[in-house]
Amino acid sequence: LRRENVDWREDAKKRAALEAVKHVREGFVVGLGSGTTVAYAIQEIGKRIKREGLQVLGVPTSHQALMLAVNHSIPITTLDEHPKLDLTIDGADQIDRDLNLIKGMGGALMREKIVASAAKQFVIVADKTKLVEKLGTSQPIPLEVLPFALSTVIARIKELGGKPVLREGNRKIGPVVTDNGNFILDVEFESVDALDKLDVALKLIPGVLETGLFMSMADVVYLGKSDGVMRLERK
Ligand code: 5RP
Repeated sequence: LRRENVDWREDAKKRAALEAVKHVREGFVVGLGSGTTVAYAIQEIGKRIKREGLQVLGVPTSHQALMLAVNHSIPITTLDEHPKLDLTIDGADQIDRDLNLIKGMGGALMREKIVASAAKQFVIVADKTKLVEKLGTSQPIPLEVLPFALSTVIARIKELGGKPVLREGNRKIGPVVTDNGNFILDVEFESVDALDKLDVALKLIPGVLETGLFMSMADVVYLGKSDGVMRLERK
């Protein structure tokens, strides 16, 4: 039964990714998000380059996205060369009906937010289990934190009513170190009502480099289901 569940979700993620890649047009500079869902989109962009001779450039949001782009022969560029992107495709950990997001379970949230904010259009790909009524209830908010400031940030978050947990490495002793050399705090809040205000309050803490709250940023969300893809658009 568990295997069926996994297969269902992988198919759904792939279906959502294929829809998103239809947004990619000739000459586009595309932000390449991180995670297992957007990996299918990167693969599909590579296929279109081979099949159609499509000319595009990618701006990866992580080492993972960079290596995927290289492996699928997507030419890479930087924000310095292209500070304005035509499109960014990325995954998400939670999505609400207003298309606000929590991101960062892959630890790439800071570059992801920078690349998303540089794009004219920000398209999200996920399976439908990521859609929730209320963000942050069964999901902590990841923060990228300067290691020097870890203890002061933890104290300030507790004052705001949050429960911060330093993300530990998997097959590594000690904390996860991001692609930018920083730490990740996963923060749970008991009541999470005004998320936009919380986002500002968190960012005002010196040493908090970025939050995983992506408020009013996504334009379109594709949610893969077992039998198709649901499209949500920001009003
Ligand atoms: C990484 C992210 C990812 O986009 C998010 O975790 C979704 O990943 P997946 O598609 O593997 O579920 O925000 O920082």
